[in-house]
Amino acid sequence: AEEARSPSSSLGFRGLPQGTGPGEAVAEGYEVQVLMRWGDPVLPGAPAFDPAKQSAEAQALQFGYNNDYLDFFPLPKGAAGGEHGLLVVNHEYTNPELMFPGLGGAREARQRTSEAQMRVEQMAHGASVVEIRRENGRWVPVRGGALNRRITAETEMRVSGPAAGHERLRTSADPTGRRVRGTLNNCAGGNTPWGTVLIAEENFNYYFGGPGVETGPQAAAFKRYGFVRDAQYTWHRFDPRFDVAREPNEPNRFGWVVEFDPYDPGSVPVKRTALGRFKHEGCTHAISSDGRVVIYMGDDERFDYVYKFVTARPWNSDEPGLNRDLLDDGTLYVARFNDDGSLDWMPLVHGQGPLTEANGFRSQGDVVIEARRAADLLGATPMDRPEDVEVNPVTGRVYVMLTNNTSRRDNGTGAANPRPNNAHGHVIEILPPAMSGANEGRGRMDHAATSARWEVFLMAGQPGTHAGAAYHAAVDAEGGWLSCPDNCAFDSKGRIWISTDGAPAAARIADGLFAADTEGDGRALTRRFYAAPTGAEVCGPLLGPADRTVFLAIQHPGEDAGSTFDKPSTRWPDNREGMPPRPSVIAIVKRDGGEIGS
Ligand code: FEO
Ligand code: CA
Ligand code: CA
Ligand code: CA
Repeated sequence: AEEARSPSSSLGFRGLPQGTGPGEAVAEGYEVQVLMRWGDPVLPGAPAFDPAKQSAEAQALQFGYNNDYLDFFPLPKGAAGGEHGLLVVNHEYTNPELMFPGLGGAREARQRTSEAQMRVEQMAHGASVVEIRRENGRWVPVRGGALNRRITAETEMRVSGPAAGHERLRTSADPTGRRVRGTLNNCAGGNTPWGTVLIAEENFNYYFGGPGVETGPQAAAFKRYGFVRDAQYTWHRFDPRFDVAREPNEPNRFGWVVEFDPYDPGSVPVKRTALGRFKHEGCTHAISSDGRVVIYMGDDERFDYVYKFVTARPWNSDEPGLNRDLLDDGTLYVARFNDDGSLDWMPLVHGQGPLTEANGFRSQGDVVIEARRAADLLGATPMDRPEDVEVNPVTGRVYVMLTNNTSRRDNGTGAANPRPNNAHGHVIEILPPAMSGANEGRGRMDHAATSARWEVFLMAGQPGTHAGAAYHAAVDAEGGWLSCPDNCAFDSKGRIWISTDGAPAAARIADGLFAADTEGDGRALTRRFYAAPTGAEVCGPLLGPADRTVFLAIQHPGEDAGSTFDKPSTRWPDNREGMPPRPSVIAIVKRDGGEIGS
């Protein structure tokens, strides 16, 4: 380990040098605990994980694949700081080449999966709720947790908001357009002040295929979302629901934010269409001074946009039931980042500006179903793949992870996306107007305002090596710099924790977790805390109770060139013959029991 670089940084750990080599590593003084692995039992009756005997029935009761978003809801409900609660985990996608024997590499595996394997994959998607607690310093799942739950690609859900019941959401199985089976590609997420969780459907286009994609009245709309005939998931071979020629409206029932109550395993999840349909990375909230709730969201695609949703009414802290449908009524906005450092939030409201029947928008339902096209017409700023957008709870500033965009050309740059061939990504900081008068105070920003200021927080990459890399201060050339920011979290001191996705390809370093101050001399001076196992990215950073734990979702270990079930590049975390690599949630604690980062 090297010297802690900057005496001005508030971080107390020594950064991991980038040259740690393949395999997992964590800063000195910290311990990694594996909490939940793909296939671990979640529900009663779940068999132990056996890679040779997988079935959809077993997987429906077990922890799903490719854990992403993480959240923690205390038990009992409302308790503060206690180390007992519900871990909520998204299961974004599946890697059949690493899940099943004998399928070969990633491309051919998707052509060779059987119908039975497809059913396993479908049950491995969605989300898990798992009761966990810390006992004698160790985080463990509580066996038989009464609130444990699995949500899958088949779980019954309700549709609400402006697209509910819309003719473009009606299918042969659901002529009402109000009841959907399942959720797919849930990447990051968020929560609400009233104790529900939000999970975000991202790359939903990968699941729907067949010749119907390119024909019919919706062909242009499908194209804007990246649907192709030869869908990456080949589920349409077996399941007519995913064959667009058979069910031309099923794709419109995905790409939404889904809300559910983690404390009620019987609750029906709700697709909240007022928040728009796009490749939702996540959805994190802030509360404006008048009590309205603001949800920030990124659309993770090259040249797509940053959005926010502002509820029409304030939330009610005394009567939680009154918040039940708060996310159905409000205004969706898309961001225009002006070169002078100002930002305009432009409303996506039917009938306003170009969002009229003349342009094919007959209702607000049409606007949210084709939110991307509506935002195109408003002149939103095309960004370098917006991932997490999250509010610093101490300063009230908003951070936008822009993961990368190697398709941006010299003539297409602007102040907010200044780097051509942006292989390493950057982070933008949005400063909403500060509150005044009675509401004035540190961190109190008017998140509902329709304008803001913005600046670049950091340009990722290695200073001196990668063109344009910059961190406000002299970041250490050895191990401080990062590449491809994806998710972020904040500790209670307002320091940012950034996890990365894509650094091995972009910069030949492992993905990892980095921390930095957001203010003072240590501002944007990132320091590497954790390095991921081979092939994995780091998702879902979450500072646990009292900042004494950081939970991480280690996604797709072994997902690198040539790595298969039969010959994986890693068998993390079990590290034994016969076991494939297993996406897992880990808890990192300080060996002396202290605060993370201290
Ligand atoms: Fe699923 Fe944008 O990462
Ligand atoms: Ca991912
Ligand atoms: Ca992500
Ligand atoms: Ca990503």
